[in-house]
Amino acid sequence: MADSWVTVAQAADIAEGGVKAVRVGDHEIALYHLPGGEFRATDNICSHEYAQLSDGWLENGEIECPLHAARFDIRSGKALCAPAEKDLTVFEVKREGDALLVRVPG
Ligand code: FES
Repeated sequence: MADSWVTVAQAADIAEGGVKAVRVGDHEIALYHLPGGEFRATDNICSHEYAQLSDGWLENGEIECPLHAARFDIRSGKALCAPAEKDLTVFEVKREGDALLVRVPG
């Protein structure tokens, strides 16, 4: 099936520098609002064990896991330090007016 774009939030729902957990079907997604109006999305579940990255700390384009402090680049999904070894899936995000849409596999 084709990928689909799904509206997951309004831009005003996420403060600049903030992150919001959203769910699309089976996908748990973290939606990030970077300074300057850039929006990004990754898996919300840490690739190490089970923690929601939306409970972590967003700084300089990196999210730090609240459980064991692994960090990930939210633009590439890359795991930047131990204990995480596996990268996160990233999702494309687009903005249409105030709506934020995420592209998810069909
Ligand atoms: S669960 Fe995220 S670093 Fe361990």
